[in-house]
Amino acid sequence: MSEPRPSLARRWGWNSLRLRLLLAIAAWVVVGIGGIWISAVSLFARHVEQGYHEELEVHVRELAGLIRLQPDGTPVLTRPLSDPRYLVPMSGFYWQVNVDGHAPLRSRSMRRGELDEQVAHSAEVLHRIDKGPSGPAITYGFVAKGPQGQDVHYMIATDQRLLDATIADFTRDLTVWLAGLAVTLLLTGAAVVLFAFEPLDRLALAIGRLRRGDRAALKGKLPYEIAPLADDLNAYIAHNAEMVERARVEAGNLAHSLRTPLAVIIDEAERLSRDPRTAGSAQVLLDHSQRMAQQIELRLARARAAVSGALPGAVSRIDEVLPSILSALQRLHPGIRFDLTQPSDDPATLPIDPTDLTELLSNLIDNAGKWARARVTVTVTANAAGGVVTIVDDGPGLTAEQRAMAGEPGLRFDPARPGSGLGLAIARDLAQAHGLSLTLSDRSDGLAGLQVRLA
Ligand SMILES: Nc1ncnc2c1ncn2[C@@H]1O[C@H](COP(=O)(O)OP(=O)(O)O)[C@@H](O)[C@H]1O
Ligand SMILES: [Mg+2]
Repeated sequence: MSEPRPSLARRWGWNSLRLRLLLAIAAWVVVGIGGIWISAVSLFARHVEQGYHEELEVHVRELAGLIRLQPDGTPVLTRPLSDPRYLVPMSGFYWQVNVDGHAPLRSRSMRRGELDEQVAHSAEVLHRIDKGPSGPAITYGFVAKGPQGQDVHYMIATDQRLLDATIADFTRDLTVWLAGLAVTLLLTGAAVVLFAFEPLDRLALAIGRLRRGDRAALKGKLPYEIAPLADDLNAYIAHNAEMVERARVEAGNLAHSLRTPLAVIIDEAERLSRDPRTAGSAQVLLDHSQRMAQQIELRLARARAAVSGALPGAVSRIDEVLPSILSALQRLHPGIRFDLTQPSDDPATLPIDPTDLTELLSNLIDNAGKWARARVTVTVTANAAGGVVTIVDDGPGLTAEQRAMAGEPGLRFDPARPGSGLGLAIARDLAQAHGLSLTLSDRSDGLAGLQVRLA
């Protein structure tokens, strides 16, 4: 018997530790990866910008070194700048030299537009973002004196979009990488949660087995943190079992101590009933003592059924209790043939302890033997829930109304035969206490007789 694991929806539902932990991991990953993303992008942008600025400053100084003024003051470039991008038309890299009274000298890349001389008004290299030939440009410039004391303005510009594109490229790559990392972290997080909670599933399964009566204690190796829980539960179960056992012993002792005096009273009353002078009172005594004896039996049986039914973990193999019951009843009803059919390979079980099962089956089979004409058949079958016992006799059987009332303490439909009228009541109590179903019916083959089914 194995109980299905709780459904996936329940294990990962709103009320699950698993989901809480997974959400916490997700929040953690979002904060961590988000933080890395923001700081990496801003650091990278700063470094790239700094690199750009340093490069442009070098370029503007190189430009100044390569410019000669002719005797009339016209600026000429003695040789191209080392960076070839200043030669490619509209490449985004431009330079320009202005000398007062002369046309500006421009890089070959600069097919149109011009650079604003304003940035080059100080002997120190300054920079700002200006409108360039092909969009906003980072412009560097400074002013120096020519041989005749005239102002020479040197300017270099690079399109802002080139810098932006570099940063955007990096940001895109970084985003893809970090998203991949986030997904991987979430998946490993889910795996961690699965791994960490597996023992709790095992504990739940073990408790399920305990409740169904497959086991009498929690078994299996559990992690250090929850092992004490299982130990405490086992100790509690053991303590309960001990208390039940003590209650049982006490109940037995009580029965014993009351039975003997009661038997003496009944005996005495019977003797007195034979004397005509005391017969009336003796009969009253007799009736009441018998009622007392019945009530003692019934109450004790009920108390026993209630305590043992409350204990988890009890289970009996039906094939282990039946043979001794049948051999005892065979001696009690010598004229009746008792037949037993039970599966040999698959032992049928019932969630009830062997003592109670013996008492229950004894009462039922004893009734069958008492009312049968010749034959009682006991059939055991195993099923997924454990087992079923069916007892069939060939006696008079019971009508539907009688069956509905059967099990009332003290109720007997055939007072001619000896009995207390408690057997069925006790059987009912025991079955109910252990969650078993006890049904009386006509025989399924249509012949006269009673069929009793315990499952
Ligand atoms: N197998 C049976 N066939 C016919 N009648 C039965 C059978 N089992 C029980 N009964 C009826 O149910 C009554 C109650 O049974 P039970 O509680 O065992 O009392 P008792 O056996 O002491 O009479 C019996 O008196 C009898 O009339
Ligand atoms: Mg009986």
